[in-house]
Amino acid sequence: MAALHTHICVFIVALLLQATAFAADCAGQPTRLQLTDGPYENYFYSDCNSSSHVVVTSPLSTSNLDYIYPRLLIAWPAGNSGIVAVFAAQNGQRGTLHINLGGNDQDELLQPVWIAGTPNPVVGVTSSITLDSPAILTVPILGSIRVIREYTEGGRNTSPDQQAQNRLSVDGAGGAMIKRTWYDNTTTTWLTFTPSNGTPSITIDNGELRFGAGTYKFNASFNYPQLTQLIPQRLLNTASTDLIDSRAEDVNSLSFLSYDSKLLAGTWRFLTYFGRDTMISVLLLQSVLSDTTIEAGISSVLERINKTDGTACHEEIIGDFATLTNKVDFNKTSNSPSCDYKMIDTTYYLPVLMKQYFIDSAMNASRAEEFLQTKASFLDENKGLNYNQLATSNAQKIMTSAAPFAKNPVQANLIHLKDGQQVGQWRDSANGLGGGRIPYDVNTALVPAALRAIAALSTAGFFADHPDWATLANQYAAIWEDQTLHFFEVNVAQNSAKSLVNTYVKQANTSVPSEADAIESDVKFYGVALDGNNGSWPIVRVMNTDDCFRHFLLETTNQTQLSSFLNQTADNILRPFPAGLATPVGLFVANPAFGGDADYASEFTRIDYHGTVVWSWPLSMMAAGLSKQLKRCEPRDDSVPDFCNQSALYSKIVSAYNYLWDLIEKNMAQLSTEIWTWNYNGTYTVVQIGAISATESNIRQLWSLTFLAVQRNTFT
Ligand SMILES: *[C@@H]1O[C@H](CO)[C@@H](O)[C@H](O)[C@H]1NC(C)=O
Ligand SMILES: *[C@@H]1O[C@H](CO)[C@@H](O)[C@H](O)[C@H]1NC(C)=O
Ligand SMILES: *[C@@H]1O[C@H](CO)[C@@H](O)[C@H](O)[C@H]1NC(C)=O
Ligand SMILES: *[C@@H]1O[C@H](CO)[C@@H](O)[C@H](O)[C@H]1NC(C)=O
Ligand SMILES: *[C@@H]1O[C@H](CO)[C@@H](O)[C@H](O)[C@H]1NC(C)=O
Ligand SMILES: *[C@@H]1O[C@H](CO)[C@@H](O)[C@H](O)[C@H]1NC(C)=O
Ligand SMILES: *[C@@H]1O[C@H](CO)[C@@H](O)[C@H](O)[C@H]1NC(C)=O
Ligand SMILES: *[C@@H]1O[C@H](CO)[C@@H](O)[C@H](O)[C@H]1NC(C)=O
Ligand SMILES: *[C@@H]1O[C@H](CO)[C@@H](O)[C@H](O)[C@H]1NC(C)=O
Ligand SMILES: *[C@@H]1O[C@H](CO)[C@@H](O)[C@H](O)[C@H]1NC(C)=O
Ligand SMILES: *[C@@H]1O[C@H](CO)[C@@H](O)[C@H](O)[C@H]1NC(C)=O
Ligand SMILES: *[C@@H]1O[C@H](CO)[C@@H](O)[C@H](O)[C@H]1NC(C)=O
Repeated sequence: MAALHTHICVFIVALLLQATAFAADCAGQPTRLQLTDGPYENYFYSDCNSSSHVVVTSPLSTSNLDYIYPRLLIAWPAGNSGIVAVFAAQNGQRGTLHINLGGNDQDELLQPVWIAGTPNPVVGVTSSITLDSPAILTVPILGSIRVIREYTEGGRNTSPDQQAQNRLSVDGAGGAMIKRTWYDNTTTTWLTFTPSNGTPSITIDNGELRFGAGTYKFNASFNYPQLTQLIPQRLLNTASTDLIDSRAEDVNSLSFLSYDSKLLAGTWRFLTYFGRDTMISVLLLQSVLSDTTIEAGISSVLERINKTDGTACHEEIIGDFATLTNKVDFNKTSNSPSCDYKMIDTTYYLPVLMKQYFIDSAMNASRAEEFLQTKASFLDENKGLNYNQLATSNAQKIMTSAAPFAKNPVQANLIHLKDGQQVGQWRDSANGLGGGRIPYDVNTALVPAALRAIAALSTAGFFADHPDWATLANQYAAIWEDQTLHFFEVNVAQNSAKSLVNTYVKQANTSVPSEADAIESDVKFYGVALDGNNGSWPIVRVMNTDDCFRHFLLETTNQTQLSSFLNQTADNILRPFPAGLATPVGLFVANPAFGGDADYASEFTRIDYHGTVVWSWPLSMMAAGLSKQLKRCEPRDDSVPDFCNQSALYSKIVSAYNYLWDLIEKNMAQLSTEIWTWNYNGTYTVVQIGAISATESNIRQLWSLTFLAVQRNTFT
């Protein structure tokens, strides 16, 4: 009787939970968020029908007018779509026109647009903008965020073909409309403006809209199929629901980027699937995510694998940009999505993530079976294949690519960037690797971690056609773990190190102190890549944060190597830049000071995307990685690694871990943004990279929200 009673209760609770979830889905309150970032004012709106991010940019008195100009931007996750409207002062003087969201009314700033339509409703947002002087809307781009991003970063060039598709009109009430039908001939994007009482009418002059000073209501909308957002209650696991209140802003940001079919890398610039971002984020966030979210992440990667060679997809090409790409690159009339496979690292994250979910989280075996039988539906070319087949082709690619080095561990057999590509892993700006061809993270961490994961998955019954992988992948992994690090090793004698940092500050024309006194021993680090600068830099001698990959992804067992590896990471975290990586604004992802030629200083600067700048997620992965290594010392028995018993070393690692956390805690204000840079005037201050270069930082980035799960631990 008691047992039956319990069952009934469970049943009722389940029904109630489901009802609540649905209620919150559509009848619940919309989510709004407002975030200020220098000259960028960001507004988010989501409800059960659609999600929008609105960014209003208005120059401040301190702004560099080459980069900061009056702009209204709307970004939509569905189809990676959006609108940018660039304004200029009618008087022609830069810096005199200011724009802000909202007028005089007390309403919520953003309200939804939802108009029934077939096959899709028209959705978007409505609000008002106020212009403080007469303005011209000089450049309207309606369509894909990809095109808008290329406009803002690529010298502000537009495509004449696409711009010719804009239709401008004015109405009898002084309002104006711009609309554009997409390359698919079906979807339309609209931007309308209506003057408020007392505000001048809009006119068309020479193909441009002219506005007076005043307040204009605007509607930004489109009629593309929408995604289903994972609202906080579905996003997080039940043990983590307290975060919905205690960390509301980060949870709402994560929810804005999370949908039942995929996670999006960031907003507004990367509002679409990126494989690396998805997998690093889920690896770091897994302890707080629901199975639904984790599976959304894993399935988004599996869906997009190149079935022929097992490569994982870097970035999807969807929406208006897909139709354009199909035409321009493939001479095809088609709206089908496609994928960019140029990266070499993404492939290796997948088995690591699958192992962390399917094996380490003790999940339900029948659910795993059911998941693997799911039929792919996203890419035309993968339709009909199931997830198991796609996962196997990915593992096969890894086994094949790892075999040559496992048999003959020489540099030529390490994993190289693809021929003809300048980029291949997370430092994917033109000079992120100093021209290197053999990246450090991929070879010393991602390959061995993927091999360990394949062995574990195979042991658990995955990849049934390849039972030999259970042992073979482990054999390969041992070689990749132990015999790759030395290729990247850089040792600088103490005296040369001091003279290099002194030279560096001169070459970099910076007033930061050289910190030569902080160099109390020889300096050791692992270069960011091999074969740099067209072969003239055999090791790219850039100190970096990519040690975090080995700490986070591996538990290596060569004790001499492990102790020495942890030792140099700790030294480089504890030493101030440019002697090491640390500054009050965080760890720099790259420190070129030990390069020894002036090109290093000029190729890795504070305005380079992968230069002397701070990214949030490496701080998180470093913290999680050092914590993982330190936890290996907890059994307090003979099984612990040697470093646990080398008391000076162990204390140094704990100090580095705590110092890293002190820096993280000092930088809470920017931790959820993509990237930040700095100024130095006797002290370091945080600067928006978009304020001093054409590269804007995303206000919210998927992998910058990982501090929801990565927490400070206590080690003694
Ligand atoms: C703007 O959107 C609102 C809300 O959906 C709608 O009532 C209004 O008619 C729209 N205005 C224009 C000009 O499209
Ligand atoms: C959401 O869509 C439904 C139809 O699916 C519609 O009835 C409702 O008004 C929309 N809600 C909002 C807030 O626009
Ligand atoms: C859209 O229409 C144009 C003109 O008729 C045609 O050339 C083009 O192929 C169509 N595009 C698609 C994706 O159907
Ligand atoms: C998929 O891999 C095959 C084999 O390497 C290659 O020929 C093909 O171009 C790849 N597909 C895409 C879309 O890159
Ligand atoms: C593009 O495709 C069309 C029809 O399929 C063909 O006639 C034309 O030659 C192709 N153009 C190029 C540049 O391959
Ligand atoms: C395990 O997964 C299967 C398949 O999804 C499901 O039917 C079953 O209820 C799950 N069992 C538990 C204990 O969650
Ligand atoms: C490296 O080679 C590329 C392509 O050949 C060339 O454009 C570039 O200038 C070279 N860089 C250096 C530093 O020699
Ligand atoms: C451990 O690594 C060091 C190099 O760091 C190497 O000299 C040594 O032979 C390795 N030991 C074993 C047992 O493989
Ligand atoms: C750690 O590095 C320091 C130099 O900073 C060196 O003196 C010490 O011997 C190293 N310890 C180990 C265990 O490698
Ligand atoms: C420093 O200034 C010199 C001389 O003006 C210039 O050649 C060099 O490129 C500058 N270095 C950097 C990193 O800006
Ligand atoms: C290492 O330290 C642990 C306690 O943390 C101890 O149990 C173990 O015996 C020590 N191992 C060696 C080789 O000293
Ligand atoms: C340095 O800049 C910061 C931020 O702009 C300012 O608060 C501080 O007073 C400045 N310090 C000096 C010494 O000029």
